[in-house]
Amino acid sequence: MSAPRGQFSSNVGFLMAAAGSAVGLGNIWGFPTKAASNGGAAFVVIYLLLAFVLAYPALMAELTIGRHARRNMVQALREISTGPVSRFFANLTGFGGILIASLILSFYAIVAGWMVAHLAEPFATLIGASSTADWLTSSSTARNMTFTAIFSGLTMLIIASGVEKGIERWSTLLMPSLIILLLLLIMYVLTQPGAIIGLQVYLMPDFSQVSPELLLSAMGQAFFSLSLGVGTMLIYGSYLSQQESLPRLGVLVTLIDVGIAFTAGLLILPAMYVAQEAGTQIFADDGSLIAGPGLILQVLPALFDSMGTIGLVVALAFFALMTIASLTSSISMLEVPVAFSIENLKLPRRSATLLVGLIIFAISSVIIFNFDALFGLVISISTEYGQPLLGVSLCIFAGWIWRRDQLLQELRKGHENIEQTLFWKIWPWYVRVVCPLLILAAFVQTLL
Ligand code: PFF
Repeated sequence: MSAPRGQFSSNVGFLMAAAGSAVGLGNIWGFPTKAASNGGAAFVVIYLLLAFVLAYPALMAELTIGRHARRNMVQALREISTGPVSRFFANLTGFGGILIASLILSFYAIVAGWMVAHLAEPFATLIGASSTADWLTSSSTARNMTFTAIFSGLTMLIIASGVEKGIERWSTLLMPSLIILLLLLIMYVLTQPGAIIGLQVYLMPDFSQVSPELLLSAMGQAFFSLSLGVGTMLIYGSYLSQQESLPRLGVLVTLIDVGIAFTAGLLILPAMYVAQEAGTQIFADDGSLIAGPGLILQVLPALFDSMGTIGLVVALAFFALMTIASLTSSISMLEVPVAFSIENLKLPRRSATLLVGLIIFAISSVIIFNFDALFGLVISISTEYGQPLLGVSLCIFAGWIWRRDQLLQELRKGHENIEQTLFWKIWPWYVRVVCPLLILAAFVQTLL
């Protein structure tokens, strides 16, 4: 008999974990800056639309397959396969998901390490250790290795504690803290000079900027933000009780993700214009808003510096927010290969976590030592190629390969009258035809 699997103790626990996976650096950093450089509220509206018409159906495919099979991605896809071809395809997608989840974690842990280093900086400043404070905030291999190791260690500690005591407990604690910190920071920043201009840039729609590129950018953002394609939502679905309605939980996860991304814009954009008012440059040489690492690691820290002592508290709150957002996402990525190692390689959870965690840390180290050559490349391979292709494949599994009666039976659990709902009238053909075509169209455009 196989070892008993973990399970979320309540639907709130699942919601916190799944929303925790979705809400990450992509929401707080990626979304607001993409919105600001792509037509403000026009981008927000399009993103909202895409999140519901494209990402939500794909999320439902993962959750439903996961809860039905109650296994990791490889095993789950094999189980719903119907012949040797689909079984081959199941192995390809399942192992692909494990590989891409691990690659995303390998670069995500480096960026999250920067957040932890910046979180430590106010303490160093407070005790007068100014050379340590400088070391913490300037890029170096030693700094990156140290803090990637610390962050990876934290991620491993949570995953080693299991589904209920690790993932659920920590997500339930960290997600409300994240929302409180975000709201406090917004309240503070909005009282500062210059904030209103940032709000205007964020919220005034400029529909002239709507273009195919903008749609693609919004689509990629929605996919990354909902953690799709790599099996994180599939594995979380597999720990979910059968009494819950999947379509409803899926809507809630999407709403929380979109809601926090939108709310983060109310912090980041005003903060940038407050920084400008305080004398910091917020536009790059080509006239665009600084959006990459320069924004979080230079523009905002310069703003915090200019605020005096209160700046230390604001910096602390901001980087605590970023660290929490990263951690609830990174645990979901690590759970993908760990669940496979437990179920297929029969390793105990702790050994599986240690083994997989160290392998991913080794990949992060290779990236750190070859930063210029590998950092951008790994991000592009995993998020621009891996995630969309795996997303298409998962939609094909839910729409074409999996038997329709089994799919319906799974969705009926926790939602008895599902056949009468709009969801059942639209979703099955949508995930079968529209989703794969839309994702593929976006993917081909990216290649061109
Ligand atoms: N959704 C996370 C974010 O927005 O930062 C990133 C992410 C998490 C991507 C988990 C993929 C994943 F499997």
